[in-house]
Amino acid sequence: MMRCAVFGASGGIGAALVGQLVARDDVEAVFAGSRRGAVPQGAKIVPFTFDALDESLAQTVAALGAPLDIVLIATGRLTRADGSGPEKALRQLDAGALAEQFSDNAIVPAMIARAVQPLLPRERRCVVAALSARVGSIGDNRLGGWHAYRASKAALNMLLRTIAIEWARSHPRAVVAALHPGTVATALSAPFQRGVAPDKLFTPAMSAAALLRVIDGLTPADSGGFFAWDGTMIPF
Ligand SMILES: NC(=O)c1ccc[n+]([C@@H]2O[C@H](COP(=O)([O-])OP(=O)(O)OC[C@H]3O[C@@H](n4cnc5c(N)ncnc54)[C@H](OP(=O)(O)O)[C@@H]3O)[C@@H](O)[C@H]2O)c1
Repeated sequence: MMRCAVFGASGGIGAALVGQLVARDDVEAVFAGSRRGAVPQGAKIVPFTFDALDESLAQTVAALGAPLDIVLIATGRLTRADGSGPEKALRQLDAGALAEQFSDNAIVPAMIARAVQPLLPRERRCVVAALSARVGSIGDNRLGGWHAYRASKAALNMLLRTIAIEWARSHPRAVVAALHPGTVATALSAPFQRGVAPDKLFTPAMSAAALLRVIDGLTPADSGGFFAWDGTMIPF
């Protein structure tokens, strides 16, 4: 029986991941974490609040107890806290946007990974996966724009890859992955859904189901990879 944790459980995809995990017979508990506490409720769900940039994170996470078999980091932002962005051209880019995006999309997940490390089993498979975005692929960037978001997701991907290399030594059965959830109808994508064909816009439940299928299929040999919702590898 697995103990799972979802960080960003108040978000569209995070809440759907919690919903899909609790429905599984092989899952005993789902720790549903958010900054403010508005997460799904129900049997097997244990809500908690966290601040990823505060020293308290280690204690907060330790209180969940070991082992954590699946850790899903579903936090992230596309626009700034004041609602502006993402930028379309370099002249719109400012240092504040870059700092915010790197904090929300790269630093927060990295701090969560650091905090969960002591709770990961060493003798059996465990998964730490974070929601990245295809636009964070450097090799796949043909459109430009969204400078801060793209760069922050590329930084996230590098952090995850580096963590995977370290854990291959300390936790040889661990799987670390960056995941692209597809284009999903959530608050994050709401301002950008107009140009998306209806069959390309997933519900959070569809995306969560697809992501969990991908996760189920990953082995330690895949650790450090960047995968789309359909299991295909995305170039870094
Ligand atoms: N939706 C899409 O089409 C799409 C496509 C590609 C990638 N993604 C990625 O998927 C992830 C989830 O997105 P979503 O669509 O589910 O967005 P969402 O509904 O806006 O949810 C975002 C979640 O991230 C949390 N969060 C943001 N900044 C945080 C921080 N500094 N510390 C802690 N929690 C923080 C939010 O918590 P609060 O409620 O406390 O703000 C919320 O729970 C993001 O990383 C996003 O980049 C989404």
